[in-house]
Amino acid sequence: MLSKYHWWRDAVIYQVYVRSFLDSTGDGVGDLAGVRAGLPYLKKLGVDGIWLSPFYPSPQHDHGYDVADYCDVDPLFGDLAEFDQLVAAARRLGIKVLLDIVPNHCSSEHPWFEEALHAAPGSAARARFHFADGRGPDGSEPPNNWHSMFGGPAWSRVTEADGRPGQWYLHMFAPEQPDWNWRNPEIGAEFDRILRFWLDRGIDGFRIDVAAGLFKHPELPDSDDPEADARTRDSVNPLAWNQPEVHEVWRGWRSICEEYTARDGRDRLLVGEVSVPTAREHAQYVRSDELHQAFFFDLLSAPWEADAFRKVISEAMQDIAGTGSTVTWVLNNHDQVRTVTRYGEPATEGSGLGAARARAAALLMLALPGAAYIYQGEELGLPEVVDLPDDVLTDPIFHRTGSRARIRDGCRVPLPWSGQASPFGFTSGAESAKPWLPQPEYFAEYATDRALADTRSFWHLYRDGLQLREALPQLGEGALRWLDSPPGVLAFVRGDGLVCAVNFGTAPTPAPVSGTPLLSSGPCPAGVLPGSTAAWWMSDGTESPAL
Ligand code: GLC
Repeated sequence: MLSKYHWWRDAVIYQVYVRSFLDSTGDGVGDLAGVRAGLPYLKKLGVDGIWLSPFYPSPQHDHGYDVADYCDVDPLFGDLAEFDQLVAAARRLGIKVLLDIVPNHCSSEHPWFEEALHAAPGSAARARFHFADGRGPDGSEPPNNWHSMFGGPAWSRVTEADGRPGQWYLHMFAPEQPDWNWRNPEIGAEFDRILRFWLDRGIDGFRIDVAAGLFKHPELPDSDDPEADARTRDSVNPLAWNQPEVHEVWRGWRSICEEYTARDGRDRLLVGEVSVPTAREHAQYVRSDELHQAFFFDLLSAPWEADAFRKVISEAMQDIAGTGSTVTWVLNNHDQVRTVTRYGEPATEGSGLGAARARAAALLMLALPGAAYIYQGEELGLPEVVDLPDDVLTDPIFHRTGSRARIRDGCRVPLPWSGQASPFGFTSGAESAKPWLPQPEYFAEYATDRALADTRSFWHLYRDGLQLREALPQLGEGALRWLDSPPGVLAFVRGDGLVCAVNFGTAPTPAPVSGTPLLSSGPCPAGVLPGSTAAWWMSDGTESPAL
Protein backbone atom coordinates (compact mmCIF):
# COMPACT_ATOMS: atom_id res chain seq x y z
CA MET A 1 0.00 0.00 0.00
CA LEU A 2 2.74 2.39 -0.95
CA SER A 3 3.01 5.79 -2.34
CA LYS A 4 0.72 7.08 -5.02
CA TYR A 5 -1.79 8.03 -2.41
CA HIS A 6 0.72 9.90 -0.28
CA TRP A 7 1.47 13.20 -1.96
CA TRP A 8 4.45 13.95 0.26
CA ARG A 9 6.55 10.95 -0.77
CA ASP A 10 7.88 12.68 -3.87
CA ALA A 11 6.68 16.24 -3.29
CA VAL A 12 8.74 19.32 -4.11
CA ILE A 13 8.33 21.96 -1.43
CA TYR A 14 9.42 25.59 -1.71
CA GLN A 15 10.74 27.20 1.46
CA VAL A 16 9.33 30.69 1.95
CA TYR A 17 11.47 32.78 4.26
CA VAL A 18 8.58 35.12 4.95
CA ARG A 19 10.49 38.25 5.96
CA SER A 20 12.40 38.19 2.64
CA PHE A 21 9.80 36.97 0.16
CA LEU A 22 7.46 39.88 -0.63
CA ASP A 23 6.42 42.89 1.44
CA SER A 24 2.84 44.08 1.02
CA THR A 25 2.91 46.88 3.59
CA GLY A 26 5.98 48.87 2.63
CA ASP A 27 7.80 48.45 5.93
CA GLY A 28 10.70 46.62 4.30
CA VAL A 29 9.80 43.24 5.83
CA GLY A 30 8.02 40.50 3.90
CA ASP A 31 4.66 39.35 5.25
CA LEU A 32 1.85 36.82 4.86
CA ALA A 33 -0.12 39.00 2.44
CA GLY A 34 3.05 39.12 0.35
CA VAL A 35 3.20 35.34 0.35
CA ARG A 36 -0.41 35.21 -0.79
CA ALA A 37 0.37 37.65 -3.61
CA GLY A 38 3.29 35.42 -4.65
CA LEU A 39 1.30 32.19 -4.84
CA PRO A 40 0.55 32.43 -8.58
CA TYR A 41 4.29 32.77 -9.18
CA LEU A 42 4.89 29.57 -7.19
CA LYS A 43 2.08 27.81 -8.98
CA LYS A 44 3.69 28.69 -12.29
CA LEU A 45 7.01 27.36 -11.03
CA GLY A 46 5.22 24.11 -10.29
CA VAL A 47 5.95 23.31 -6.65
CA ASP A 48 3.63 21.09 -4.64
CA GLY A 49 3.73 23.07 -1.44
CA ILE A 50 5.32 25.76 0.66
CA TRP A 51 6.99 25.75 4.06
CA LEU A 52 6.61 29.09 5.83
CA SER A 53 9.40 30.16 8.18
CA PRO A 54 8.10 31.21 11.65
CA PHE A 55 5.70 34.18 11.64
CA TYR A 56 4.50 33.89 15.26
CA PRO A 57 4.73 36.74 17.78
CA SER A 58 8.41 37.01 18.55
CA PRO A 59 10.97 39.62 19.55
CA GLN A 60 12.89 38.40 16.44
CA HIS A 61 16.22 37.75 18.10
CA ASP A 62 16.57 34.78 15.74
CA HIS A 63 14.03 35.91 13.15
CA GLY A 64 11.07 34.15 14.66
CA TYR A 65 12.84 31.00 15.87
CA ASP A 66 12.34 32.60 19.28
CA VAL A 67 8.59 32.16 19.71
CA ALA A 68 6.70 34.18 22.34
CA ASP A 69 3.23 32.89 21.39
CA TYR A 70 2.85 29.71 19.35
CA CYS A 71 -0.78 30.33 18.40
CA ASP A 72 -0.85 33.75 16.77
CA VAL A 73 0.71 35.86 14.02
CA ASP A 74 3.21 38.63 14.74
CA PRO A 75 1.78 42.00 13.60
CA LEU A 76 4.98 42.37 11.59
CA PHE A 77 3.68 39.62 9.29
CA GLY A 78 -0.11 40.08 9.47
CA ASP A 79 -2.78 38.48 11.61
CA LEU A 80 -4.76 35.26 11.88
CA ALA A 81 -7.37 36.47 9.39
CA GLU A 82 -4.62 37.06 6.83
CA PHE A 83 -3.18 33.65 7.64
CA ASP A 84 -6.56 32.03 6.97
CA GLN A 85 -6.80 33.83 3.64
CA LEU A 86 -3.37 32.60 2.69
CA VAL A 87 -4.25 28.99 3.49
CA ALA A 88 -7.52 29.28 1.55
CA ALA A 89 -5.79 30.81 -1.48
CA ALA A 90 -3.11 28.11 -1.43
CA ARG A 91 -5.77 25.41 -1.20
CA ARG A 92 -7.55 26.85 -4.25
CA LEU A 93 -4.30 26.64 -6.21
CA GLY A 94 -3.53 23.13 -4.99
CA ILE A 95 -0.48 24.28 -3.00
CA LYS A 96 0.06 22.58 0.37
CA VAL A 97 1.03 24.71 3.35
CA LEU A 98 3.53 23.64 6.02
CA LEU A 99 4.28 25.71 9.11
CA ASP A 100 7.58 25.82 10.94
CA ILE A 101 7.16 24.65 14.52
CA VAL A 102 9.87 25.25 17.11
CA PRO A 103 9.55 22.76 19.99
CA ASN A 104 13.12 22.73 21.35
CA HIS A 105 13.04 26.24 22.75
CA CYS A 106 10.85 29.33 22.97
CA SER A 107 11.51 33.04 23.43
CA SER A 108 12.63 34.55 26.71
CA GLU A 109 9.48 36.66 26.25
CA HIS A 110 7.21 33.61 26.30
CA PRO A 111 4.82 34.06 29.28
CA TRP A 112 5.93 30.74 30.82
CA PHE A 113 9.57 31.80 30.78
CA GLU A 114 8.71 35.18 32.27
CA GLU A 115 6.77 33.36 34.96
CA ALA A 116 9.77 31.11 35.59
CA LEU A 117 12.08 34.09 35.98
CA HIS A 118 9.85 35.52 38.69
CA ALA A 119 9.33 32.17 40.42
CA ALA A 120 11.62 30.61 43.01
CA PRO A 121 14.26 27.95 42.36
CA GLY A 122 12.61 24.53 42.46
CA SER A 123 9.16 25.91 41.52
CA ALA A 124 6.80 24.29 39.02
CA ALA A 125 7.25 27.31 36.74
CA ARG A 126 11.03 26.71 36.57
CA ALA A 127 10.52 22.98 35.99
CA ARG A 128 9.23 23.75 32.48
CA PHE A 129 12.80 24.77 31.56
CA HIS A 130 16.27 23.62 32.55
CA PHE A 131 17.13 25.76 35.56
CA ALA A 132 20.10 24.64 37.66
CA ASP A 133 22.45 25.98 40.30
CA GLY A 134 25.86 27.06 39.10
CA ARG A 135 29.14 25.43 40.04
CA GLY A 136 31.99 26.86 42.09
CA PRO A 137 31.77 28.21 45.62
CA ASP A 138 29.42 31.04 44.70
CA GLY A 139 27.62 29.27 41.86
CA SER A 140 29.19 31.62 39.35
CA GLU A 141 30.20 28.92 36.87
CA PRO A 142 27.68 27.34 34.50
CA PRO A 143 26.17 23.99 35.58
CA ASN A 144 28.04 22.15 32.79
CA ASN A 145 30.49 22.82 29.96
CA TRP A 146 28.07 22.70 27.01
CA HIS A 147 28.39 25.21 24.20
CA SER A 148 25.56 27.08 22.55
CA MET A 149 25.18 26.46 18.81
CA PHE A 150 25.48 30.20 18.34
CA GLY A 151 28.75 30.53 20.30
CA GLY A 152 29.54 30.95 23.98
CA PRO A 153 28.22 28.87 26.87
CA ALA A 154 24.80 27.19 26.64
CA TRP A 155 23.84 28.66 30.02
CA SER A 156 22.90 32.14 31.24
CA ARG A 157 22.55 33.25 34.82
CA VAL A 158 19.42 34.95 36.13
CA THR A 159 18.93 37.53 38.85
CA GLU A 160 16.63 36.25 41.58
CA ALA A 161 13.79 38.21 43.20
CA ASP A 162 16.13 39.39 45.98
CA GLY A 163 18.39 41.04 43.42
CA ARG A 164 21.21 38.49 43.80
CA PRO A 165 22.75 36.44 41.00
CA GLY A 166 20.93 33.14 41.08
CA GLN A 167 20.34 30.00 39.01
CA TRP A 168 21.30 29.36 35.42
CA TYR A 169 19.06 28.27 32.54
CA LEU A 170 19.97 26.24 29.48
CA HIS A 171 19.77 27.59 25.93
CA MET A 172 21.34 25.55 23.13
CA PHE A 173 20.98 28.61 20.88
CA ALA A 174 20.85 32.30 21.94
CA PRO A 175 20.14 33.32 25.57
CA GLU A 176 16.84 34.69 24.25
CA GLN A 177 15.88 31.08 23.31
CA PRO A 178 15.50 29.07 26.55
CA ASP A 179 15.21 25.31 26.02
CA TRP A 180 12.01 23.59 27.11
CA ASN A 181 12.30 20.72 29.57
CA TRP A 182 10.64 17.89 27.67
CA ARG A 183 10.91 15.60 30.68
CA ASN A 184 8.06 17.67 32.10
CA PRO A 185 4.81 16.24 30.64
CA GLU A 186 3.24 19.70 30.59
CA ILE A 187 5.43 20.61 27.62
CA GLY A 188 4.32 17.70 25.45
CA ALA A 189 0.69 18.41 26.27
CA GLU A 190 1.13 22.07 25.35
CA PHE A 191 2.64 21.17 21.98
CA ASP A 192 -0.18 18.74 21.24
CA ARG A 193 -2.54 21.66 21.77
CA ILE A 194 -0.46 23.89 19.46
CA LEU A 195 -0.43 21.27 16.69
CA ARG A 196 -4.19 20.96 16.87
CA PHE A 197 -4.64 24.74 16.85
CA TRP A 198 -2.96 24.99 13.43
CA LEU A 199 -4.27 21.71 12.02
CA ASP A 200 -7.77 22.97 12.83
CA ARG A 201 -7.01 25.99 10.62
CA GLY A 202 -6.51 23.67 7.66
CA ILE A 203 -2.75 23.40 7.19
CA ASP A 204 -1.05 20.37 5.65
CA GLY A 205 1.73 19.82 8.14
CA PHE A 206 4.82 21.08 9.92
CA ARG A 207 8.51 21.50 9.39
CA ILE A 208 9.98 20.72 12.80
CA ASP A 209 12.86 22.88 13.94
CA VAL A 210 15.83 21.00 15.47
CA ALA A 211 13.95 17.73 15.54
CA ALA A 212 16.90 15.83 17.03
CA GLY A 213 16.71 18.17 20.02
CA LEU A 214 14.03 18.47 22.74
CA PHE A 215 15.40 15.92 25.24
CA LYS A 216 18.78 16.24 26.90
CA HIS A 217 20.67 13.66 28.92
CA PRO A 218 18.71 13.48 32.21
CA GLU A 219 21.71 14.44 34.36
CA LEU A 220 23.04 17.18 32.09
CA PRO A 221 26.62 15.93 32.57
CA ASP A 222 29.73 17.61 31.17
CA SER A 223 30.55 16.90 27.54
CA ASP A 224 33.81 14.96 26.96
CA ASP A 225 34.74 17.12 24.01
CA PRO A 226 33.40 20.64 24.48
CA GLU A 227 35.88 22.01 21.94
CA ALA A 228 34.41 19.85 19.18
CA ASP A 229 30.92 20.99 20.15
CA ALA A 230 32.03 24.59 19.81
CA ARG A 231 33.59 24.18 16.37
CA THR A 232 30.46 23.22 14.51
CA ARG A 233 26.91 24.38 14.10
CA ASP A 234 25.83 20.77 13.60
CA SER A 235 24.38 19.01 16.57
CA VAL A 236 27.39 17.01 17.72
CA ASN A 237 27.21 16.98 21.54
CA PRO A 238 25.81 13.48 22.14
CA LEU A 239 24.42 14.51 25.54
CA ALA A 240 22.40 17.42 24.22
CA TRP A 241 20.98 15.94 20.99
CA ASN A 242 19.52 12.76 19.56
CA GLN A 243 18.29 11.28 22.86
CA PRO A 244 16.16 8.14 22.49
CA GLU A 245 13.12 9.69 24.22
CA VAL A 246 12.52 12.11 21.35
CA HIS A 247 11.19 9.31 19.15
CA GLU A 248 8.18 8.88 21.41
CA VAL A 249 7.27 12.52 20.78
CA TRP A 250 7.33 11.98 17.01
CA ARG A 251 5.13 8.91 17.41
CA GLY A 252 2.61 11.03 19.26
CA TRP A 253 2.71 13.79 16.65
CA ARG A 254 2.32 11.26 13.84
CA SER A 255 -0.78 9.86 15.49
CA ILE A 256 -2.27 13.35 15.79
CA CYS A 257 -1.71 13.83 12.05
CA GLU A 258 -3.31 10.50 11.34
CA GLU A 259 -6.31 11.42 13.41
CA TYR A 260 -6.87 14.43 11.10
CA THR A 261 -6.32 12.29 8.00
CA ALA A 262 -8.89 9.80 9.24
CA ARG A 263 -11.41 12.64 9.45
CA ASP A 264 -11.01 14.14 5.98
CA GLY A 265 -8.73 11.84 3.99
CA ARG A 266 -6.04 14.53 3.56
CA ASP A 267 -2.48 13.41 4.33
CA ARG A 268 -0.66 15.63 6.79
CA LEU A 269 3.14 15.85 6.71
CA LEU A 270 5.79 16.13 9.41
CA VAL A 271 9.26 16.97 8.12
CA GLY A 272 12.07 17.16 10.65
CA GLU A 273 15.23 19.18 10.64
CA VAL A 274 17.35 16.26 11.78
CA SER A 275 21.11 16.73 12.10
CA VAL A 276 22.60 13.48 13.34
CA PRO A 277 25.96 11.89 12.59
CA THR A 278 24.98 9.03 10.26
CA ALA A 279 22.38 8.13 7.64
CA ARG A 280 21.48 5.14 9.80
CA GLU A 281 20.62 7.32 12.81
CA HIS A 282 18.79 9.67 10.50
CA ALA A 283 16.64 6.78 9.30
CA GLN A 284 15.42 6.19 12.85
CA TYR A 285 13.46 9.44 12.62
CA VAL A 286 11.45 8.34 9.60
CA ARG A 287 10.34 4.93 10.78
CA SER A 288 6.79 4.28 9.68
CA ASP A 289 5.19 5.55 12.90
CA GLU A 290 7.42 8.63 13.32
CA LEU A 291 8.14 11.58 11.04
CA HIS A 292 7.13 11.27 7.41
CA GLN A 293 10.29 13.00 6.26
CA ALA A 294 13.59 14.31 7.61
CA PHE A 295 15.91 16.60 5.66
CA PHE A 296 18.87 14.62 4.44
CA PHE A 297 21.64 17.21 4.79
CA ASP A 298 24.50 15.01 3.59
CA LEU A 299 23.76 15.94 -0.01
CA LEU A 300 24.03 19.61 0.89
CA SER A 301 27.34 19.11 2.66
CA ALA A 302 28.92 16.83 0.04
CA PRO A 303 31.85 18.40 -1.83
CA TRP A 304 31.39 18.79 -5.60
CA GLU A 305 32.86 15.39 -6.47
CA ALA A 306 31.19 12.47 -8.20
CA ASP A 307 32.34 9.91 -5.62
CA ALA A 308 31.12 11.98 -2.70
CA PHE A 309 27.70 12.45 -4.27
CA ARG A 310 27.43 8.79 -5.18
CA LYS A 311 28.29 7.77 -1.62
CA VAL A 312 25.73 9.99 0.09
CA ILE A 313 23.01 9.11 -2.40
CA SER A 314 23.65 5.37 -2.04
CA GLU A 315 23.75 5.52 1.76
CA ALA A 316 20.57 7.51 1.95
CA MET A 317 18.73 5.19 -0.40
CA GLN A 318 19.89 2.13 1.47
CA ASP A 319 19.25 3.31 5.03
CA ILE A 320 16.13 5.38 4.55
CA ALA A 321 14.36 3.19 2.03
CA GLY A 322 14.58 0.43 4.62
CA THR A 323 12.10 2.36 6.79
CA GLY A 324 9.44 2.52 4.08
CA SER A 325 9.88 6.29 3.82
CA THR A 326 11.55 8.14 0.95
CA VAL A 327 14.64 10.35 1.10
CA THR A 328 14.08 14.09 1.53
CA TRP A 329 16.76 15.87 -0.50
CA VAL A 330 18.00 19.38 0.20
CA LEU A 331 20.71 21.51 -1.33
CA ASN A 332 19.97 24.76 0.47
CA ASN A 333 17.97 26.55 3.13
CA HIS A 334 17.94 29.78 5.13
CA ASP A 335 20.91 28.63 7.26
CA GLN A 336 23.30 27.79 4.41
CA VAL A 337 25.53 29.66 1.99
CA ARG A 338 23.64 29.85 -1.30
CA THR A 339 24.37 27.02 -3.72
CA VAL A 340 25.84 29.14 -6.52
CA THR A 341 28.40 30.61 -4.13
CA ARG A 342 29.13 27.37 -2.28
CA TYR A 343 29.84 25.46 -5.47
CA GLY A 344 31.86 28.38 -6.84
CA GLU A 345 34.47 28.04 -4.09
CA PRO A 346 37.28 28.88 -4.40
CA ALA A 347 35.76 31.84 -6.21
CA THR A 348 37.11 32.48 -9.69
CA GLU A 349 35.75 35.82 -10.72
CA GLY A 350 33.34 35.60 -13.62
CA SER A 351 33.96 31.90 -14.32
CA GLY A 352 30.32 31.02 -13.85
CA LEU A 353 31.44 27.70 -12.39
CA GLY A 354 29.31 28.01 -9.25
CA ALA A 355 26.21 28.77 -11.31
CA ALA A 356 26.85 25.90 -13.74
CA ARG A 357 27.34 23.46 -10.87
CA ALA A 358 24.30 24.74 -8.98
CA ARG A 359 22.18 24.19 -12.09
CA ALA A 360 23.58 20.69 -12.52
CA ALA A 361 23.01 19.89 -8.83
CA ALA A 362 19.39 21.06 -9.08
CA LEU A 363 18.75 18.77 -12.02
CA LEU A 364 20.43 15.90 -10.21
CA MET A 365 18.32 16.45 -7.10
CA LEU A 366 15.10 16.59 -9.10
CA ALA A 367 15.98 13.25 -10.70
CA LEU A 368 16.47 11.45 -7.37
CA PRO A 369 13.72 9.31 -5.89
CA GLY A 370 11.97 10.97 -2.98
CA ALA A 371 11.02 14.48 -1.96
CA ALA A 372 12.97 17.71 -2.49
CA TYR A 373 12.99 21.13 -0.85
CA ILE A 374 14.03 24.33 -2.61
CA TYR A 375 14.91 27.48 -0.70
CA GLN A 376 13.45 30.68 -2.09
CA GLY A 377 15.71 32.50 -4.53
CA GLU A 378 17.49 29.31 -5.60
CA GLU A 379 15.13 29.18 -8.55
CA LEU A 380 16.63 32.53 -9.56
CA GLY A 381 20.22 31.39 -9.07
CA LEU A 382 20.79 34.10 -6.47
CA PRO A 383 24.32 34.18 -5.13
CA GLU A 384 25.13 34.66 -1.44
CA VAL A 385 25.52 38.35 -0.61
CA VAL A 386 28.99 38.17 0.89
CA ASP A 387 29.74 41.83 1.47
CA LEU A 388 26.97 43.00 3.79
CA PRO A 389 28.52 45.56 6.13
CA ASP A 390 28.87 44.51 9.78
CA ASP A 391 26.39 47.11 10.96
CA VAL A 392 23.46 45.59 9.04
CA LEU A 393 24.09 41.99 10.12
CA THR A 394 21.36 40.55 12.30
CA ASP A 395 22.44 36.95 12.79
CA PRO A 396 22.88 36.12 16.50
CA ILE A 397 25.86 33.98 15.45
CA PHE A 398 27.68 37.14 14.39
CA HIS A 399 26.77 38.99 17.55
CA ARG A 400 27.75 36.11 19.82
CA THR A 401 30.97 35.05 18.10
CA GLY A 402 32.10 38.38 16.65
CA SER A 403 33.05 36.40 13.54
CA ARG A 404 31.52 36.45 10.07
CA ALA A 405 32.54 32.84 9.50
CA ARG A 406 29.16 31.12 9.84
CA ILE A 407 26.72 33.98 9.46
CA ARG A 408 23.46 33.48 7.62
CA ASP A 409 22.31 36.97 6.60
CA GLY A 410 23.86 36.61 3.13
CA CYS A 411 21.29 34.03 2.00
CA ARG A 412 18.38 35.95 3.52
CA VAL A 413 18.53 39.17 1.51
CA PRO A 414 15.02 40.05 0.22
CA LEU A 415 14.14 38.67 -3.21
CA PRO A 416 14.32 40.85 -6.33
CA TRP A 417 11.06 40.79 -8.28
CA SER A 418 11.41 43.51 -10.91
CA GLY A 419 13.09 46.71 -11.97
CA GLN A 420 16.61 48.03 -12.04
CA ALA A 421 17.14 49.28 -8.50
CA SER A 422 16.46 48.25 -4.92
CA PRO A 423 13.86 47.42 -3.63
CA PHE A 424 13.35 45.58 -6.96
CA GLY A 425 9.61 45.28 -6.40
CA PHE A 426 10.14 43.58 -3.03
CA THR A 427 8.22 46.26 -1.19
CA SER A 428 5.10 47.68 -2.71
CA GLY A 429 5.19 50.71 -0.45
CA ALA A 430 6.82 54.09 -0.98
CA GLU A 431 9.92 54.21 -3.12
CA SER A 432 11.88 55.09 -0.03
CA ALA A 433 10.96 51.81 1.65
CA LYS A 434 14.13 49.97 2.50
CA PRO A 435 14.32 46.17 2.57
CA TRP A 436 15.41 44.98 6.01
CA LEU A 437 18.73 43.84 4.51
CA PRO A 438 20.22 45.88 1.66
CA GLN A 439 19.97 44.32 -1.80
CA PRO A 440 23.08 44.65 -4.00
CA GLU A 441 22.73 46.40 -7.35
CA TYR A 442 23.52 43.19 -9.22
CA PHE A 443 20.24 41.68 -7.95
CA ALA A 444 18.70 43.42 -11.00
CA GLU A 445 20.06 40.58 -13.17
CA TYR A 446 18.23 38.00 -11.06
CA ALA A 447 14.82 39.64 -10.74
CA THR A 448 11.90 37.30 -11.35
CA ASP A 449 10.58 39.32 -14.30
CA ARG A 450 13.88 38.86 -16.13
CA ALA A 451 14.09 35.22 -15.12
CA LEU A 452 10.64 34.49 -16.48
CA ALA A 453 11.43 36.21 -19.78
CA ASP A 454 14.73 34.37 -20.35
CA THR A 455 14.38 30.71 -21.25
CA ARG A 456 18.03 30.11 -20.27
CA SER A 457 17.42 31.24 -16.70
CA PHE A 458 17.59 29.12 -13.56
CA TRP A 459 13.86 29.68 -13.25
CA HIS A 460 13.13 27.91 -16.54
CA LEU A 461 15.43 25.04 -15.61
CA TYR A 462 13.56 24.50 -12.35
CA ARG A 463 10.18 24.96 -13.99
CA ASP A 464 10.99 22.51 -16.82
CA GLY A 465 12.40 20.00 -14.35
CA LEU A 466 9.28 20.23 -12.19
CA GLN A 467 7.01 19.84 -15.20
CA LEU A 468 8.85 16.70 -16.28
CA ARG A 469 8.64 15.32 -12.74
CA GLU A 470 4.92 15.83 -12.93
CA ALA A 471 4.60 14.26 -16.37
CA LEU A 472 7.00 11.31 -16.18
CA PRO A 473 6.21 8.46 -13.81
CA GLN A 474 9.90 7.43 -13.88
CA LEU A 475 10.72 10.51 -11.83
CA GLY A 476 8.47 9.61 -8.92
CA GLU A 477 9.62 7.38 -6.13
CA GLY A 478 11.15 4.03 -7.00
CA ALA A 479 14.50 2.51 -7.71
CA LEU A 480 17.67 4.15 -8.92
CA ARG A 481 20.17 2.04 -10.84
CA TRP A 482 23.73 3.30 -11.25
CA LEU A 483 25.28 3.06 -14.71
CA ASP A 484 28.93 2.59 -15.52
CA SER A 485 30.48 5.97 -16.06
CA PRO A 486 33.95 7.44 -16.44
CA PRO A 487 35.64 8.96 -13.36
CA GLY A 488 34.10 12.28 -12.40
CA VAL A 489 30.74 11.40 -13.97
CA LEU A 490 27.64 10.02 -12.27
CA ALA A 491 24.94 8.33 -14.30
CA PHE A 492 21.84 6.49 -13.23
CA VAL A 493 18.59 5.16 -14.64
CA ARG A 494 15.19 5.83 -13.13
CA GLY A 495 12.33 3.48 -13.80
CA ASP A 496 11.77 2.63 -17.37
CA GLY A 497 14.72 4.22 -19.22
CA LEU A 498 15.05 7.73 -17.84
CA VAL A 499 18.77 8.46 -17.55
CA CYS A 500 20.31 11.30 -15.57
CA ALA A 501 24.02 11.99 -15.83
CA VAL A 502 26.18 14.65 -14.21
CA ASN A 503 29.68 15.60 -15.26
CA PHE A 504 31.44 16.91 -12.15
CA GLY A 505 34.65 17.67 -14.05
CA THR A 506 35.31 20.60 -16.33
CA ALA A 507 36.19 18.73 -19.56
CA PRO A 508 33.45 17.28 -21.81
CA THR A 509 32.81 13.54 -21.77
CA PRO A 510 30.79 11.35 -24.16
CA ALA A 511 27.12 11.13 -23.19
CA PRO A 512 26.62 7.88 -21.25
CA VAL A 513 23.50 6.97 -23.18
CA SER A 514 21.91 7.35 -26.55
CA GLY A 515 18.36 8.48 -26.55
CA THR A 516 16.11 11.49 -26.65
CA PRO A 517 17.42 14.49 -24.70
CA LEU A 518 14.82 15.78 -22.26
CA LEU A 519 16.51 18.56 -20.35
CA SER A 520 20.00 19.74 -19.57
CA SER A 521 21.42 22.23 -17.13
CA GLY A 522 23.52 23.92 -19.84
CA PRO A 523 24.18 23.67 -23.59
CA CYS A 524 24.56 19.99 -24.43
CA PRO A 525 25.55 19.04 -28.01
CA ALA A 526 24.34 15.62 -29.22
CA GLY A 527 26.37 12.75 -27.81
CA VAL A 528 28.33 14.93 -25.38
CA LEU A 529 28.03 15.84 -21.72
CA PRO A 530 29.99 19.06 -21.17
CA GLY A 531 31.77 19.79 -17.88
CA SER A 532 29.75 20.99 -14.86
CA THR A 533 26.55 19.90 -16.58
CA ALA A 534 23.70 17.51 -15.85
CA ALA A 535 21.26 16.13 -18.39
CA TRP A 536 18.23 13.87 -18.61
CA TRP A 537 17.52 11.56 -21.54
CA MET A 538 14.90 9.01 -22.36
CA SER A 539 17.13 6.13 -23.26
CA ASP A 540 16.66 4.03 -26.38
CA GLY A 541 18.08 1.10 -24.43
CA THR A 542 21.75 1.40 -25.30
CA GLU A 543 23.11 2.83 -22.08
CA SER A 544 26.27 1.34 -20.60
CA PRO A 545 25.66 -1.84 -18.61
CA ALA A 546 24.65 -1.56 -14.99
CA LEU A 547 27.38 -1.84 -12.40
C1 GLC B 1 17.18 25.82 13.10
C2 GLC B 1 16.76 26.93 12.17
C3 GLC B 1 17.67 28.10 12.39
C4 GLC B 1 17.52 28.56 13.82
C5 GLC B 1 17.79 27.42 14.78
C6 GLC B 1 17.31 27.75 16.17
O1 GLC B 1 18.43 25.31 12.81
O2 GLC B 1 16.79 26.46 10.86
O3 GLC B 1 17.41 29.16 11.51
O4 GLC B 1 18.39 29.61 14.08
O5 GLC B 1 17.09 26.25 14.42
O6 GLC B 1 15.92 27.75 16.21
